[in-house]
Amino acid sequence: MPNETTRIPLETLIEQARQASERAYCPYSEFPVGAAVLAKSGKVYTGCNVENAAYGSTICAERNAILQMAAAGERDIQAVIIYTPTEKVSAPCGACRQVINEFGPEARIVSVCDTNDRLDAPLSELLPHAFGPKNLQ
Ligand code: THU
Repeated sequence: MPNETTRIPLETLIEQARQASERAYCPYSEFPVGAAVLAKSGKVYTGCNVENAAYGSTICAERNAILQMAAAGERDIQAVIIYTPTEKVSAPCGACRQVINEFGPEARIVSVCDTNDRLDAPLSELLPHAFGPKNLQ
């Protein structure tokens, strides 16, 4: 939808992602991440990274937020905003891209940080030729 992006309250979402990053549990990496997911309903779900002493059990901020959305019964992502308190933006990791694809193959992905550096791209650009629900039909 060409006009979809104009309805995305980006500045509010960025602030929500930033606030979520303040709740990150990241004693091992000391790399806090906050995410805000705008669902199709207009509701926003936030998440932070939550690390674990068994490092592989860590959950990323984006997946945390998406799982909050799914647990609330929603199934459609319009946009994912990722905030890191850094000079350069962080794009979502591969696992998070795959999970975004499940609910938002056309989602807008916006990564922001503490400078003007910004990534703003559709998921299809970050995860071309994605494997998704359609492959199982
Ligand atoms: N992390 C995220 O929360 N999202 C990403 O997309 C990449 C990485 C977290 C996981 C871990 O807690 C820390 O950043 C360092 O990898």
